[in-house]
Amino acid sequence: MLQITVDFLRKEISKNLGKFVPEIGIVLGSGLGELADEYCDYSISYSEIPGFEVSTISGHKGRLVFAKINGKNVVMMQGRFHYYEGYPIQKVVYPIKVMKGLGVKTLILTNAAGGVNPAFNPSDLMVITDHINLMGINPLVGMNDDEMGERFPDMSEAYSPELVELARKTASKIGVDLQEGVYAALSGPSYETPAEVRMLRTLGADAVGMSTVPEAIIASWAKLKLIGISCICNSAAGIRNVTLSHEDVINAANTAKQRFKQLVTEIIKNL
Ligand code: HPA
Repeated sequence: MLQITVDFLRKEISKNLGKFVPEIGIVLGSGLGELADEYCDYSISYSEIPGFEVSTISGHKGRLVFAKINGKNVVMMQGRFHYYEGYPIQKVVYPIKVMKGLGVKTLILTNAAGGVNPAFNPSDLMVITDHINLMGINPLVGMNDDEMGERFPDMSEAYSPELVELARKTASKIGVDLQEGVYAALSGPSYETPAEVRMLRTLGADAVGMSTVPEAIIASWAKLKLIGISCICNSAAGIRNVTLSHEDVINAANTAKQRFKQLVTEIIKNL
């Protein structure tokens, strides 16, 4: 199936853009999709792509967007597939394999997350230095595709230290505050309990969310250079005395989106 999807997209890209090989892939998280509205040379809805599922969550558009950003050919997912939506984990990570097949070398994974680190504030941006997989699944379970990656892939530098450093330098150059830390993923869709958030803090997490980790595992396995950026949309449960809502998450992402776009486009320039 993968080759069918890749061939289909290559044909569509070539029809609409001529010679265009995306070198950078970006997955845009909840409320962060605007980058793909601003930069769009050609887009195709997930529903038209063989092998893709349809995105169901509000705040997610569900299309693949191709664009030149700061001189680089980029493919963006405007909306991702979440495990909590009920998709098999293979469907969640399928687009990352497709991106690899299209020629992507560097992947930028972004998400909306809850702040576990008490020093974080809503709308802070955080570069991900590492992750903790608490989703209870791993997308590499099953037969290994030896052509794409190894059976037992090393994860010690899944998030490229070089790209973390690039993010730091870029943020400082353009005057955007950037936190850094460890992202823990749970399956969701319920937010965490305060006790779970205390556990996450004890485990060394700085942020918590319901995505990114499966995609990061596939990226690392397939030898894509990976950078992760979280928009801290709220303090995780129990950190401050507020209840959590998806609406507040989207509002915080809206507050951060200008800085987010600036940071991502500037990182792209320097990749
Ligand atoms: N927990 C999990 N996922 C999230 C959160 C949170 O607090 N905020 C945004 N995504």
